[in-house]
Amino acid sequence: MFESSAEKIPDSCLIVIYGASGDLTKRMLIPSLYKLYIENNLKNNFSILGFSRKEMDDNEFRKKMFESVMEYNEDKSLQMDHLEEFCKNLYYVRAGYDDIESYKNLKSHIEEIDKKKNLSGNILLYMAVPPDNLPDIIEKTGKIGLNKPLNEGSWTRIILEKPFGHDLESAIKLNKLTEKYFSEKQIYRIDHYLGKESVQNILVTRFSNMIFEPLWNRNYIDRVEITSAESIGIENRGGYYESSGALRDVVQNHLMQIVAYISMEPPSTFDSNSIRDESMKVFQSLRFLKAEEVESNVIRGQYTASHVNGKTIAGYREEANVSPVSRTETFVAMKFFIDNWRWGGVPFYIRTGKRMPTRVTEIVIHFKPTPHYLFKRKTDIAESYNMLVIRIQPDEGILIKFAMKVPGTDFKLQNVNMDFHYSDLLNVKLPSAYEKLLLDCIQGDSTLFLRADAVEACWKFVQPILDAWKKYPEIKIYGYPAGTWGPECSDDLIVEKELQWRYPCKNKSNDGLYCEL
Ligand code: BG6
Repeated sequence: MFESSAEKIPDSCLIVIYGASGDLTKRMLIPSLYKLYIENNLKNNFSILGFSRKEMDDNEFRKKMFESVMEYNEDKSLQMDHLEEFCKNLYYVRAGYDDIESYKNLKSHIEEIDKKKNLSGNILLYMAVPPDNLPDIIEKTGKIGLNKPLNEGSWTRIILEKPFGHDLESAIKLNKLTEKYFSEKQIYRIDHYLGKESVQNILVTRFSNMIFEPLWNRNYIDRVEITSAESIGIENRGGYYESSGALRDVVQNHLMQIVAYISMEPPSTFDSNSIRDESMKVFQSLRFLKAEEVESNVIRGQYTASHVNGKTIAGYREEANVSPVSRTETFVAMKFFIDNWRWGGVPFYIRTGKRMPTRVTEIVIHFKPTPHYLFKRKTDIAESYNMLVIRIQPDEGILIKFAMKVPGTDFKLQNVNMDFHYSDLLNVKLPSAYEKLLLDCIQGDSTLFLRADAVEACWKFVQPILDAWKKYPEIKIYGYPAGTWGPECSDDLIVEKELQWRYPCKNKSNDGLYCEL
């Protein structure tokens, strides 16, 4: 999977985007497909067929998508003629998601485009649709036969966007329904965090260097901390977010995948099943919280109105489509354990939140202190341990903090940084997560996609928390002013041994990794 994609010739295919007039299509999918196109990864052997409820014809769709690439493509040196050529491969057909005739119409458009463009029958169905509509759409897509390859030797694959269900029960139901029409080999459940270069690099850091893995266990690691903070709020997604909340939106999927990559055993081979088997073993070893343990191990919060950098920021309850008495969490911090030989007794602390001071995702491995202090430590004890920081975003990179002698006549110690930043690599641009994952799917590589069993295992882990919150409304939800690091009591999770969360700071020279604050 880590071979250069340019070395493989991607199959020609027709990409059908369900939900083509939505936000994901315009912000992520079309700009990523365009990048694959200009980087010669799609050659000319592709077409994109949009399918959604909005009334539009091919030309209007092309115009809209042209504008989306102009707006969302990060590379501003766009070549207009390339973009126009790309847009000629776009088509559109209107959907009535609950109307079977619509799917018949879609099928005949697919057959027509496939024939006209000589695409060899390969079809990628991308489900970028509201979660409530998904089961019906899968059912009708299957009933009409769109689950089957168009001809002998061709393939049909389906990409499902998160959320995969709303809880354990609905996830099991959704998996059953999808598997009724598609084989597991055809199903690609996307978690865009796995498409991030810096997340994939966790495996390379761990399994292609000798210096980390011998220390990567309970004997040397004191605790593991993972933060995924966002400065943005819920961005017009009140309707969705009200029924989701941070636990479902980020912990159940993105953070659990990071936990798996950080804590899995080395796979015996680098293929999709070995990697996913090892992730699965981690999920099976997670210690479930009992109802009475939830309040003291999981802190939930909700942002309140505040002033950030001179701007007035509305509180969550004032956002559109949010109840004024909502108890949906926009912040979660929790402590848990992985009950296996490697991690027995090592606490994992994870937190995520909206409207925090900055956008930062990082993993911090805190090492234990040396068994004997030869030198008197002048710094705060928590600060003086070795720390490995894997920065997922921004300023993607890796940092090790270690003690050195401050030059002088006595033995004063100070922590210093050894760091690597992706931005130091010359002529290398990080592909977007969606670019990577779309290409992997077209090439039939499911390594970075989730298997049904993993999705269910992650729901199993968060389900007792959801249940406890539902059953015991007295479990507090703490307000925190927008622009802060969440409820102050989330520090209490970590108080043992005078510890605290790592708060990244803006100054690269102090912190080693840059952060916008
Ligand atoms: C999505 C969540 O899956 O991930 C969003 O639904 C969140 O609420 C986003 O903002 C975060 O992704 P990233 O790549 O910006 O960290």
